[in-house]
Amino acid sequence: MHMRSAIGEAVSSSPSLADLDWTEEGQPRSVLFGDLYHCRQDGLEESRHVFLLHNQLETRWQQLQPGEHFCIAETGFGTGLNFLAAFQLWERRAPTDATLHFISAEKYPLAAADLRRALNLWPELASCAAQLLAHYSSPAPGWQHLVLADGRITLTLMIGDATEMLSQLDASVDAWFLDGFAPACNPDMWQPALYREVARLSRVGSTLTTFAIEEEVKQGLVTAGFLAERVWGYRPEREMLVARLAQLPAREWSAPWYQRPAAVPAKERRAVIVGAGLAGCCTAWALARRGWRVTLIERHAGEAREASGNGQGILYCKLSPHHPPLSRFIQSSYAYSLHLLRSILPEDNVGWSACGVLQLSGDAKEAARLQALAEQGYPPEFLHGVTADQASQIAGVEVNEGGLHFPGGGWVNPPALCAALLRHPAIELKTCCEAISLDYNGEQWHAVDTHGVTLESAPVAIICSAGDSKRFAQTVHLPLKTIRGQVTRLPATADSQTLRSVLCGEGYVSPARLGTHYVGASFRFDRSDTHPSEEENASNLELLNRLSPEFDRKLRSEGALLPRALHGRAALRCTSPDYLPLIGPVVDAGRFLQEYAMLAKDASKQPEQQAPWHRGLYVNAAHGSRGLISAPLSGELIGALLEDEPLPLPRELIRAVHPGRFLLRQLVRGT
Ligand SMILES: Cc1cc2nc3c(=O)[nH]c(=O)nc-3n(C[C@H](O)[C@H](O)[C@H](O)COP(=O)(O)OP(=O)(O)OC[C@H]3O[C@@H](n4cnc5c(N)ncnc54)[C@H](O)[C@@H]3O)c2cc1C
Ligand SMILES: C[S@@+](CC[C@H](N)C(=O)[O-])C[C@H]1O[C@@H](n2cnc3c(N)ncnc32)[C@H](O)[C@@H]1O
Repeated sequence: MHMRSAIGEAVSSSPSLADLDWTEEGQPRSVLFGDLYHCRQDGLEESRHVFLLHNQLETRWQQLQPGEHFCIAETGFGTGLNFLAAFQLWERRAPTDATLHFISAEKYPLAAADLRRALNLWPELASCAAQLLAHYSSPAPGWQHLVLADGRITLTLMIGDATEMLSQLDASVDAWFLDGFAPACNPDMWQPALYREVARLSRVGSTLTTFAIEEEVKQGLVTAGFLAERVWGYRPEREMLVARLAQLPAREWSAPWYQRPAAVPAKERRAVIVGAGLAGCCTAWALARRGWRVTLIERHAGEAREASGNGQGILYCKLSPHHPPLSRFIQSSYAYSLHLLRSILPEDNVGWSACGVLQLSGDAKEAARLQALAEQGYPPEFLHGVTADQASQIAGVEVNEGGLHFPGGGWVNPPALCAALLRHPAIELKTCCEAISLDYNGEQWHAVDTHGVTLESAPVAIICSAGDSKRFAQTVHLPLKTIRGQVTRLPATADSQTLRSVLCGEGYVSPARLGTHYVGASFRFDRSDTHPSEEENASNLELLNRLSPEFDRKLRSEGALLPRALHGRAALRCTSPDYLPLIGPVVDAGRFLQEYAMLAKDASKQPEQQAPWHRGLYVNAAHGSRGLISAPLSGELIGALLEDEPLPLPRELIRAVHPGRFLLRQLVRGT
């Protein structure tokens, strides 16, 4: 099913999972396309021949320098056979500290069970397949970013039509695997628009191979700038096409304020990060896993002492049926958070628990919203609609409303996640240090404290200081707001142990962690202190009562909700006017407003001059009330920007979270 987003571009509301039938030999066949996914005799050898050999991957990978990247993009992920063949070869032939970025578009993803069955055909790939299967769940629309093979390989699965997905990709591709059923049975995909995107994303010398030998395909590639020729394929009677980009396509204007600043040269892989909450720790880890040395500056005696210091936070994937950018950002980020948690934190009911999240409907408007989402055909492993009875069954306590169930969601102890991230040996945490300014001497950023002492210097500085991110001269223009919130701790009772799933509505409550339930959370716009208040404990109890009067009664009858038993914890969330975070490079605001002043008169102008970046300065803040969802992928985004890697999100979402967006709006709207 497709629909138009608020900004007018097509987005999939839900993918259609691949409809398969299976041959007697156990091979998958697409019902829609009426074709096998691989050749009957030896699909793996054919895949190696067509895609690996003819893109000369073995030779090219043996010549890579330590720390280099290589990017493959594919149309039609299918069963992941090509990916796994490349995965295996990469592990065998590439330098251990080089990284393979494999990007694949898939319009009809396989359900997880089908993928498992299909990959059973290739025992030789079992160890690579096990890694993929451990993190692959029937994909929902959007992009999924997986880090595999101890960080040596990233897989970005773009669920949707290949041309549409590639038009949103920001990457420089070294080799293409054009797969996707033969043009005769899939003419919609093999179109000039696809070849144009392929050329846009290539460099001179980028290679491409495909089974398709039709003249239109060859001519389409030639028109897009490739030299293409037919050569013999794996089977004697079959030819294939190989191509190489000979000429870059004419460059279309692209907004300089959204282009990437020049990458920092490899010898300077050092960063200082200000703030050790979720944003700072996720960013530090994302850089450390890319070979950077990172120093985190934190004013408290340890990490995760402010907003990121709650005992339990919810993986709350709050979507909108209309799929605005915020909703799409949340969906991709949620998938990555779960992937990260599974990769680095044991699910032990202390660090986190994938106990599932029930999003209950509350009022009629919310019920209609959730119903609309339930009807969009998402894979049930991701979300499905539930009645009040079903929700009560899942929760283990009676609830009065139905809504949505997210079986993969749950709760996290944010300090445990931060601590796990900081265990990376390339990260140093400097505590009890408050940076009041960031000074650049042309080569290094110096984080300086109130006494004028330099706390740390590095060529790259990343401000992850939540609401205090705008205390620095370079970021004072950022429109950050803080909103106080409080959670209330409730001692668990024998009866309250029956709660098995997180309940969310206006508030939330989770199954107990170490004998305590956490109920949240208040929103106070009139206070900016962090002293817990009785009033907010009381309002949290009202939220609890609305979620499940039965659960509330159980706790009350055992005395757990007596005022003397209640403890609150208040902190400040940081948010932006459009509720999306700010993730990316920082510009010199004064120069930006001057250099692009013409936009105030005519917003359709297309200036060419480069944006006045503060070289090496980035910000990652405004994660609002969903830092557990948005912070992990935000770190990956900063890491990818700094390393000049393919970006893990569609271009349109990169723009939606770009820190420069408010200056641009200010200019264009004249505010
Ligand atoms: C009551 C409440 C409930 C919440 N519930 C949830 C939930 O259920 N699920 C969810 O996903 N999210 C929840 N959130 C939101 C989530 O906690 C935040 O989005 C997240 O913690 C933000 O992380 P951060 O790193 O940006 O900010 P913070 O955790 O505030 O970290 C910023 C860090 O920067 C440090 N710092 C700032 N300035 C300086 C400086 N100049 N020098 C040195 N150090 C500095 C601070 O000391 C702090 O440690 C909740 C928030 C609150 C307040
Ligand atoms: C022959 S199979 C690919 C095999 C796959 N590369 C593998 O290694 O298993 C073709 C794939 O292309 C997908 N596909 C077809 N049309 C598409 C489109 N327009 N956009 C993205 N994927 C598409 C199909 O769903 C199918 O999974």
